[in-house]
Amino acid sequence: MMERQTIIAGNWKMYKTIEEAAVFIETLAPLVANATSTILIAPPYTALSVCAEVASNTNILIGAQNMSDSEEGAFTGEISARMLKDAGANFVILGHSERRTHFGETDEVIHKKLKRAIVEELPAILCVGETENQREKGDSEKVLKKQLEGCLGGLTLDELQNIIIAYEPVWAIGTGKSATPEIAQAMHKEIRAFIAKNWDEQLADGISILYGGSVKPSNIESLLIQSDIDGALIGGASLDVEAFAKMVLR
Ligand code: PGA
Repeated sequence: MMERQTIIAGNWKMYKTIEEAAVFIETLAPLVANATSTILIAPPYTALSVCAEVASNTNILIGAQNMSDSEEGAFTGEISARMLKDAGANFVILGHSERRTHFGETDEVIHKKLKRAIVEELPAILCVGETENQREKGDSEKVLKKQLEGCLGGLTLDELQNIIIAYEPVWAIGTGKSATPEIAQAMHKEIRAFIAKNWDEQLADGISILYGGSVKPSNIESLLIQSDIDGALIGGASLDVEAFAKMVLR
């Protein structure tokens, strides 16, 4: 089996001013300088360029939480991949459940955004995951497959190389109720099997799959020791620099 590098990613959502963000990165950098994991932080747009500047010459990579599927144009309030790269973004999170729930993003829209990210050579983290209701009905695997098909269907093997997948059950996001390591591992295994079936084994073996949903210093290890969990996408607990550093260095 291929050795996949551990990725610890922070999604700050709509938190932190420019100054707060800069101080966080400045404080984090020396704490994690010797870390072996890949470290990603997605601040709000306004803090992107300052974070990228502070993070230059460190092992921290800065990215965005969303972007437009269009190259450019009359789209008030939107932001393009080119603008994100210009601001120093090294990656973009796409299809987060909050984008799906509050802003009506469908698998079709997310697919277009992924295509745009690929064209613009901006690595993407695609988020998928079922709601509590879907899990209770026993539909988790079905929902997962539908999202993967809708978002990734039609992409070539080459196009998929720059995509990371994050399994984020909606019922675990911001609730303090993380998926058990067993549930998360089973879902990650499903994702890998889906990639193997529709593309190939080698790609499935090499693709990074992160878990997200109430990850914190006290539960990260139990999740990351699972064979198909390659890292974490962390919301709430990534806002605190000590907690985040602890999770990177665990
Ligand atoms: P949480 O959020 O860690 O606060 O549950 C995870 C996410 O939304 O990516």
